[in-house]
Amino acid sequence: MKGLAVIKLGGSVITVKGGVPRPNLVNLRRLLKEIAQANRPFVLVHGGGSYGHYAALKYRVGEGKGASSPAGASRTIFNMVRLNAIVTREMISAGFPTLAIPPHAFDFVRDLPDIFVEQFQKSISAGFVPVTYGDVVLDQDSGYRIVSGDYLASRLAVRLGASLLVFGTDVDGVYRSYPPRQRERPIAYLTRKVSFGATSSDATGGIAYKAEQALLAAEGGVTTLIVNASKPGVLRRALQGRSVRCTRVSTDGV
Ligand code: IPE
Repeated sequence: MKGLAVIKLGGSVITVKGGVPRPNLVNLRRLLKEIAQANRPFVLVHGGGSYGHYAALKYRVGEGKGASSPAGASRTIFNMVRLNAIVTREMISAGFPTLAIPPHAFDFVRDLPDIFVEQFQKSISAGFVPVTYGDVVLDQDSGYRIVSGDYLASRLAVRLGASLLVFGTDVDGVYRSYPPRQRERPIAYLTRKVSFGATSSDATGGIAYKAEQALLAAEGGVTTLIVNASKPGVLRRALQGRSVRCTRVSTDGV
């Protein structure tokens, strides 16, 4: 769909880290305002932050069926449903006719199931703004597993033929070194030829995994940016096609 933007809002931006799961309503409401100001069709994908990662690690859901139990997976799913209910409520308050599409209701054996992608197409055609999120999904092969919002955003952007994919994080982009050196600028253009030393520290792989998903979307023909959504105005400008300090992800040779 031409002109469509897929926006991933990281859990680190829309929730408060550490302790009990808590939304960051200040950030969430500001970002929804910025999205409204940008005035373009979009699909929202959000992460888990303190609602997802703590539960996923506690119940070892990321390690699969051997290490975890359906009871632990179920609690993780419920945490994400709670966060999604808050995001949906705020989207409706911001004026978006929102329709939540929960990944856990689908079988994700190997890739996004066609029926999942079709739900987005159908809901957009019916006038809704779809929202989905990193979740625990059924998988015929392994029983169940975690899918991250980064993966969903990247795959949806390609499958829906989106023009733009924006990963809204709490950093300015991808850095060459981790932790970044003082005053280091993010990599302006990330391709497969650029190496960077990221570590993976959460249930879904951190920045290295995000960069890989971003590269796959760029290779699928989608303009892809990793921006700092915790800084006011950055997401709006990125959605308007204006320049922002960020990492732009491209295919080699572009
Ligand atoms: C996490 O999704 C989902 C679960 C742990 C169940 P993401 O990986 O997209 O979340 P963030 O953006 O890193 O918090």
